[in-house]
Amino acid sequence: MRHLEELTFSEVSRALRALSATYIRRRRHLGEGAALSGRGKRAAFALFYGPLHYLLVNHIVRSIPGATGTFRTLVDLGCGTGASGAAWGSACAARPSVVGLDRNRWALGEAATTYRAFGLAARMRQGNIASVRLPNEPVAVLAAFTLNEVSESAREVLLGQLIARVKRGDTLLIVEPVAGSAASWWNRWRREVESAGGRADEWRFRTELPAIVARLDRAAGLDHREITGRSLWCPAFAGPMNPELASPHPKNPA
Ligand SMILES: C[S@@+](CC[C@H](N)C(=O)[O-])C[C@H]1O[C@@H](n2cnc3c(N)ncnc32)[C@H](O)[C@@H]1O
Repeated sequence: MRHLEELTFSEVSRALRALSATYIRRRRHLGEGAALSGRGKRAAFALFYGPLHYLLVNHIVRSIPGATGTFRTLVDLGCGTGASGAAWGSACAARPSVVGLDRNRWALGEAATTYRAFGLAARMRQGNIASVRLPNEPVAVLAAFTLNEVSESAREVLLGQLIARVKRGDTLLIVEPVAGSAASWWNRWRREVESAGGRADEWRFRTELPAIVARLDRAAGLDHREITGRSLWCPAFAGPMNPELASPHPKNPA
């Protein structure tokens, strides 16, 4: 709500329209950071998309068996305001320590506040997920609504790296909208994840929206009474295993 201290509700709802148009029709500008440019769009993201992503990821991890198990470290790639990482981390049996990575400084500040509010210890890293160096030990990796903002070539490299990490003990959760341009790469990622023993799902559910989200939804002419999304989930060790790595915390990981 602090986001409404400096902006009026109608300024935020106007910015939400612009932000939604960026996600739907102007996706090519996402790679330039267009989504979080300007106070209005940032407020709209924090007040509207953040809570929706939280609700979706919370629903996903509580629906997939094993997804709320024990992970020592959760790496939130393109963490934004930290909503999705907080949803996963706070649903886990034992709360993981979170590493939030984003190229956007404002987002990192927001994410630090979000993780703290959910009782999650966190370290923040500013950088490009295309050249991310994941911690040596096995981790849970989350990429929620992020991969579509990465260039095709970087995404391709990342795919190879993430699948290799899964085979060495990482757990992977990728979340994207059902519709949109993610379709061009989704099926390829899906095949890779499935052949590493993972699963692909589409989600559609109704839940009560926080009052500010419902109000902004109506004001911006959107309709999120039903929340939808899709995910790729790959648990650790689901793929062909190297027997030397058959422990959740191998002595000499990558
Ligand atoms: C749509 S937001 C999603 C945020 C968050 N994961 C969530 O689910 O709410 C995408 C985030 O990815 C970040 N991002 C996009 N491309 C990136 C890159 N190449 N490296 C680091 N962060 C990136 C953006 O700055 C933004 O915060």
